[in-house]
Amino acid sequence: MQALIHKLAETHSLELNEYEALITNRNEETAKLLRNLAVRTRLEIYGRDVFVRGLIEISNICKNDCLYCGIRRGNKNVERYRLTPEQIIACADEGYELGFRTFVLQGGEDSYFNDEILGDIVREMKARHCDCAITLSMGERSYESYKYLRSCGADRYLLRHETADKTHYEKLHPSEMSYDNRMKCLRELRELGYHAGCGFMVGSPFQTNKTLAQDLKFIENFRPEMCGIGPFIPHKDTPLRDYPAGTLELTCYLLSIIRLIYPPVLLPATTALGTINPMGRELGIMSGANVVMPNLSPVNVRKKYELYDNKICTGEESAQCKDCLNNRMEKIGYKIVTARGDIKR
Ligand code: 5AD
Ligand code: FES
Repeated sequence: MQALIHKLAETHSLELNEYEALITNRNEETAKLLRNLAVRTRLEIYGRDVFVRGLIEISNICKNDCLYCGIRRGNKNVERYRLTPEQIIACADEGYELGFRTFVLQGGEDSYFNDEILGDIVREMKARHCDCAITLSMGERSYESYKYLRSCGADRYLLRHETADKTHYEKLHPSEMSYDNRMKCLRELRELGYHAGCGFMVGSPFQTNKTLAQDLKFIENFRPEMCGIGPFIPHKDTPLRDYPAGTLELTCYLLSIIRLIYPPVLLPATTALGTINPMGRELGIMSGANVVMPNLSPVNVRKKYELYDNKICTGEESAQCKDCLNNRMEKIGYKIVTARGDIKR
């Protein structure tokens, strides 16, 4: 395993079966070696800086029915909401005052946010805060739509691939959704000049070390500017409610590997990681992550954007969330940086 780990750190590439072996044969020793190499790699590029992205959850209305997701259309127990363009702009203004220079607009696939409406929001945000980066995380859209939003000023787009194994993808999604379209969207985003983010859940139902190896190989080939990974956490009103949550240990292990696969990647210590363990985000950073995403959504909607049970940060005001993360990062010897935080390569 030692030799494999050094091969990964030096060549940033392993064979599919080698990735699988690295996961299957993991132990405290391999984890420690990977973590040390990942942290060293990250320090060389980003120092002890941790970038922040202000997350604005603009709608929990979704036309999709992903089996794992708490805001799937089939969940009748969710109180649906959608922020108005004015509310979204106000959240960004507040975030700007708090120092944020990157905003992520995330939501379900809500047809209200057509190109005209979403494009206007992006343009208005850019006009008010020209030094900010805007990231969209609004699901699968057409090439024309991505192109138009890019022309309005969107810089980055997050679209987790969810799993790089087609059969696995089909077990997590209803038949009207397709693995091929998801991958097509990611290629198109890249082609249009977005900084693209992919990602997956750790410990999702039916995941195996083989499918995880495929995720890692996909990341190696795609070289995403951003990669969001966090543990799967069951949601009580979904068909996958009885499956166990992913672990902190495996998530951190994979964060280290991903850092070594693509050293400059922007890698968040996710809210889901902070949800399964009170020190999850800190441990994520200490395994090689370099981004955190405090919540800027209006407090009265936060509880409603529940993709999984017991999500943290649902009661705090934006400023509290920011201060909380500041303190957490300082305690472990890192520093929050509010700059745009573009990838360094
Ligand atoms: N547990 C963890 N993550 C989830 N997501 C959706 N549902 C869950 C869940 N139950 C993730 C998906 C999606 C992102 C926005 O949130 O990977 O892409
Ligand atoms: Fe949101 Fe701590 S980060 S409350």
